[in-house]
Amino acid sequence: MNIRVFDNEAQAGQAAALVIGAQIVKNPDSVIGLATGSTPVLAYQELVRLTKQGILDWNRVTTFNLDEYLGLSGDHEQSYRAFMMKNLFGKVNIQPDAIHIPDGMAKDPEAASLAYERTINARGGIDLQLLGLGRNGHIGFNEPGSFFATRTHVVDLTEDTINANARFFANPSDVPRRAMTMGIGTIMQAKAILMLVTGAEKARAVRGMVCNPVDPQCPGSVLQLHANVTVFLDRPAATAMYHCQ
Ligand code: GLP
Repeated sequence: MNIRVFDNEAQAGQAAALVIGAQIVKNPDSVIGLATGSTPVLAYQELVRLTKQGILDWNRVTTFNLDEYLGLSGDHEQSYRAFMMKNLFGKVNIQPDAIHIPDGMAKDPEAASLAYERTINARGGIDLQLLGLGRNGHIGFNEPGSFFATRTHVVDLTEDTINANARFFANPSDVPRRAMTMGIGTIMQAKAILMLVTGAEKARAVRGMVCNPVDPQCPGSVLQLHANVTVFLDRPAATAMYHCQ
């Protein structure tokens, strides 16, 4: 793992945007995996800025998002599709049919999961996957205890994740309890991975990810086994990592 610690979350986010931007500049036909949550918002702002400056061109880029809540349609304001439209896709020149996000309203979510996986493979796999890290160490919606070989599938969210995400919903009982997510096997198949983690509430998960042996109880720790992983942290997220022993 190549780990970089930045002074603050703005710097970490800007640096993440530079890595994603460089991928698009290097290969205009890139397939990029994207994440939601509050962490990548600053990175997306910077990507929009670089696009408006004429530095980035999304015309030939393909994207695959990590996950989506089940039971929310794409126009529900808390759906991950709505998040992506608001923070990135609605502000850059990506082709609408190049955007892939699991369908939260799929009639048969299991079949939709298989189809999602097939589409990723048909596009030649993901060149660069952006990841966040859950407070409990989850990646995508792969909760502690997930099997490392999983492909895109349906998951039951843990209480911890439901509580963590309740801040986005008017009523905590509105938080969906199931989601569709790329599996850990899907994520590990990406050619390169960029993880962005900010904030003190993630320090414990960061420690589990980088200091401890690979453990399904901390899904992020599986990244130790990937050959091309970059982790960008801000100082608060990095605090517990300095005391690995
Ligand atoms: C969410 C998402 C993840 C995200 C993580 C962290 O539940 N499913 O993809 O990386 O949890 O979210 P945040 O950045 O808001 O802390």
